[in-house]
Amino acid sequence: MAHYHRCGEIPPKRHTQFRDADGGLYYEELMGEEGFSSDSSLLYHRHVPSALLDARVWQLPEQATSPNLPLIPRHLRLHDLDGADTWRQHDAVTGRRLLLGNADVRILYAVVGAASPCYRNAVGDECVFVESGRAVVETVFGDLRVGPGDYVILPRATTHRWVPLSDPGDPSPLRLYVIEGNSHIAPPRRYLSRYGQFLEHAPYCERDLRLPTPPEPAEAAAQAPTEVYVKHRGAGAALVGSVHVTPHHPFDVVGWDGCLYPYVFNVADFEPITGRVHQPPPVHQVFEGHNFVICNFVPRKVDYHPDAVPVPYFHSNVDSDEVMFYVRGDYEARKGSGIGPGSITLHPGGHSHGPQPGAIEASLGVDRFDELAVMVDTFRPLELGEAGRASDDGVYLHSWNGDD
Ligand SMILES: [Fe+2]
Repeated sequence: MAHYHRCGEIPPKRHTQFRDADGGLYYEELMGEEGFSSDSSLLYHRHVPSALLDARVWQLPEQATSPNLPLIPRHLRLHDLDGADTWRQHDAVTGRRLLLGNADVRILYAVVGAASPCYRNAVGDECVFVESGRAVVETVFGDLRVGPGDYVILPRATTHRWVPLSDPGDPSPLRLYVIEGNSHIAPPRRYLSRYGQFLEHAPYCERDLRLPTPPEPAEAAAQAPTEVYVKHRGAGAALVGSVHVTPHHPFDVVGWDGCLYPYVFNVADFEPITGRVHQPPPVHQVFEGHNFVICNFVPRKVDYHPDAVPVPYFHSNVDSDEVMFYVRGDYEARKGSGIGPGSITLHPGGHSHGPQPGAIEASLGVDRFDELAVMVDTFRPLELGEAGRASDDGVYLHSWNGDD
């Protein structure tokens, strides 16, 4: 983010002496992207941020993928993955299961009942969409309180942990749809001015972003020593994990400033762009990473030409695989296919897709869609992870038959 922010206590001049009430120096850390050539923040720690007592291997959950072979469109039922009450022991870091992935991005799902350990993704940024439930995401920058419809953007190497919160008014578990990039994840470049301000045509802006509350290092100090789970690169492109044991809790920052930090954007603050005839998916885009984009389809008025066909035309995404996650509402184009909240469809490149039989006629004259879906389009083919294979309904490929 080019949006500058300062939080907590910082000295008036960077790289100068900054002392606590007892005269001790704080430890300044620059967290920056692209080798000192892009966005960064300066954080002021009570303790040396590099200190390590010990390290060991973290055996990651199953990360293997297999090709979408034979090539077919697929319907994954994520809520089938819950498994009785076992989710109550799962946390948002070690409990996430791999649905789909390629060399640029991995899509995972977690149903969460327990607090996670401290965690740092050293491979790329994470975009975590909260399907249901509430949590506090404690970070080295401060806390983020999150709930349904929130996208949580966590820059690469941000130390954080997920703590689920109970909500007496809503017993839904914390369900997280996790998009792990191998790159940075940011608002689309075309939404921003040359210096990074959101432009007037963008469907959201700086006011819609929620930033961390000021850090409270005194609370964290009681929790030392601390384990930090680190996801990183091993041999070749393999993902591996390590656990770092630190002598002091990593959330010991008294203040920070800069343009690199975690933040939250709620999908309800996305202002949909509509037209007389069908608008293409790029108007629904919310974020982008290297070789993938994230779009959302939110409740909205639809096409108002008198002869408009509100559902999409058949389309062949010759350069991408399309992953649609149906969060809530009635998804007009998929009527009759068995798809509902908690479903994912994978529409692979090389196969044309469009509305299910009857959906075109049913949409004529409709002036509003009450649907919420998050879409990831990848520019390289996606493979199936263990949870993708486990939740595949096996029959979606037949769902367009019977209308001719
Ligand atoms: Fe599509």
